[in-house]
Amino acid sequence: MASASCISLLLLVALAATAVSAQLSPTFYDTSCPRALDTIKSGVTAAVSSNRRMGASLLRLHFHDCFVNGCDASVLLSGNEQDAPANKGSLLGFSVIDNIKTQVEAICKQTVSCADILTVAARDSVVALGGPSWTVPLGRRDSTSATGDTGDLPAPDSSVAQLQAAFSKKNLNTVDMVALSGAHTIGQAQCLNFRDRLYNETNIDTAFATSLKANCPRPAGSGDGSLAPLDTTTPNAFDNAYYTNLLSQKGLLHSDQVLFNNAATDNTVRNFASSAAAFSSAFATAMVKMGNIQPLTGTQGQIRLSCSKVNS
Ligand code: HEM
Repeated sequence: MASASCISLLLLVALAATAVSAQLSPTFYDTSCPRALDTIKSGVTAAVSSNRRMGASLLRLHFHDCFVNGCDASVLLSGNEQDAPANKGSLLGFSVIDNIKTQVEAICKQTVSCADILTVAARDSVVALGGPSWTVPLGRRDSTSATGDTGDLPAPDSSVAQLQAAFSKKNLNTVDMVALSGAHTIGQAQCLNFRDRLYNETNIDTAFATSLKANCPRPAGSGDGSLAPLDTTTPNAFDNAYYTNLLSQKGLLHSDQVLFNNAATDNTVRNFASSAAAFSSAFATAMVKMGNIQPLTGTQGQIRLSCSKVNS
């Protein structure tokens, strides 16, 4: 008797632990809005073909959404969260999501959440730039507020230990962290985020640093916003060149190069540099995990009519 109730208690705990992600399902809109996924995909494909960087910007929006209070589209609300220092003047792609939402609303009124649109758009962006695909669990709902506290986002001057702490707080392990950092195989960063690395660090390829210094002079202030590709080798292709760059000390951000600097993460970096397939598979797995961070489900939150504001 005692052991039977012990087993049922264990079962209950196990069920409770999987309950959140179990509420998300890849078939969530199959009957309520069967054309939702195609509509999102064509919106993303069009946006990325007119501006390759947009794929990177949409992927980053999803990351910044999920790490701050869960994947609840809070980052899309005008105000607090968008204006926090980690985001202001740095996040792009809001109008692309707004346009896709308008198209989705036209076919299915108040059915598909902005949080799901953003999650699917991140996947479709990776695919549009030549990266792997994966199945996206759906059924997230949208927050009714946004916070100004973006403290859970890792900073570009982080150590490996700080990065590990930030990711483990979101139940993402070290391999997930190294794989997700591979998102920096696309997109761009502003000089203010890598200037210190160019002038103060020694684990940087000399010719690489010299070429970047031209557009990122000292002191701080001048050229703060000038851009450089995060992956200097294939800036617009979603491939594993991010990791081969790290092997030759051509990581752009401090937080990139720390992953290959006599750290516990060195072997994972070597593995992803030598196997595009290993990277693709780990990235897809980690993206699904990231997309499952604290979603609002069921009757929580709302389905926004417009992604940039809560329903009135
Ligand atoms: C590991 C910790 C991370 C740090 C410290 C970090 C930091 C940064 C910084 C500083 C930038 C440049 C922003 C600017 O200069 O305006 C950037 C860009 C970017 N990040 Fe990360 N990031 C991290 C992880 C991630 C993850 C997990 C993803 C997605 C899965 C991601 C996707 C991107 C993309 C795609 C860009 C380029 C965006 C664009 O070109 O518009 N990052 N990141």
